[in-house]
Amino acid sequence: MTPHQIHLIRSSFEPLKPLANSVAQAFYAQLFARDPALRALFRGDLAEQGERLMQMMGAAIQLLDHPASLRPVLLKLGQRHAGYGVVHAHYASVGAALLDTLAAGLGDAFTAEVRKAWATMYAVVAQTMQEGAAADLPQALAA
Ligand code: HEM
Repeated sequence: MTPHQIHLIRSSFEPLKPLANSVAQAFYAQLFARDPALRALFRGDLAEQGERLMQMMGAAIQLLDHPASLRPVLLKLGQRHAGYGVVHAHYASVGAALLDTLAAGLGDAFTAEVRKAWATMYAVVAQTMQEGAAADLPQALAA
């Protein structure tokens, strides 16, 4: 990711922060419309889960220019996701639902360049989480 892409992600996420609850709701609506079978994986309270998701996004966005600090967090997050029953194919559905939600939330501000920046970030995050899900974690954390 380039510094400019990191800047685009931060500045486009900013106006969504006060709307965190409705953004999270819109995200789950997009996700379950796209893949209704995923609903069964979410056992806890979705409002609470949405809040954690938005907090995690905020934290990840803060750490984008410190990839060495972000990596172990994402490896562990990916390993926990394997425990929730999340498999490789689900990451594509979540990525698509995320981009649709951002497009709806940001309107004209979601330019092609902003979209590309988010898609690039999601790809890096999803890839690292899946490494965490697949790997022998102590070894992956040492890498
Ligand atoms: C960028 C990728 C993702 C991020 C940042 C993310 C973030 C989170 C966070 C912070 C939690 C709270 C629990 C924890 O920290 O372990 C969580 C839980 C969960 N996530 Fe994700 N997640 C991502 C991708 C996915 C994908 C691809 C799926 C597949 C459907 C998924 C399904 C779930 C489920 C089922 C839970 C547990 C919810 C419950 O117990 O009700 N997540 N996620």
